[in-house]
Amino acid sequence: MKQTLAILAICATPVAALAQTEGEFSLPDLPYAADALDPVISAETMGLHHGKHHQSYVTNLNTAIAEGDAPAGTALEDLVANAGTYPDRVRNNAGGHWNHTFFWESMAPADQTGEMSPELTEAIEAAFGSDEEFRTAFQEAGAGQFGSGWVWLIVNDQDELEITSTPNQDNPLMDVAETQGTPLLGNDVWEHAYYLTYNNRRAEYLESWWDVVNWGAVSERYDAALAE
Ligand SMILES: [Fe+2]
Repeated sequence: MKQTLAILAICATPVAALAQTEGEFSLPDLPYAADALDPVISAETMGLHHGKHHQSYVTNLNTAIAEGDAPAGTALEDLVANAGTYPDRVRNNAGGHWNHTFFWESMAPADQTGEMSPELTEAIEAAFGSDEEFRTAFQEAGAGQFGSGWVWLIVNDQDELEITSTPNQDNPLMDVAETQGTPLLGNDVWEHAYYLTYNNRRAEYLESWWDVVNWGAVSERYDAALAE
């Protein structure tokens, strides 16, 4: 009986799960329930964004690698860092996979967002004047990104905080990025991130989003970036 169940389990294993064991990229689980960030991000938006959009970056990246656009087994971080040396299909889909994985981990339910560390608070005040001025500048950069893209808080190579934005699925870790650095926080300003709830009101989405930013995670990233 046990043997039969084991055989059934193997037969029932989806192709994606088998492929994962052979080193392909796979969609990470969300670190919270799909409705956990509601009303800032609705369950419907989260379900589509994670289950359809992020999944398609993963699937398309695996296809690109299987068809020889980049060497199989290359780490995601290396694909991103050297994005300019690969065809756009790798740049766009490796970026999409990295950015969305980072994005899910940048947020938490409103009652579990933690606190900004004293070190990060001090650095934000030094760079932007105050937390409020930082938020305003971040929102403006997000609203001002023409078309699809991302807005970031990064640590630059002088260990200073800086706000930057990137088009499409680029990010500040890429060799092709105009402004490079270590991302601490990123918000997705593609319409798929907000349109169902906010329609064309990107600025409203950017303002609401602070309620679900995981400051505990962002503070840990800041510590890690300075230790590099
Ligand atoms: Fe997205």
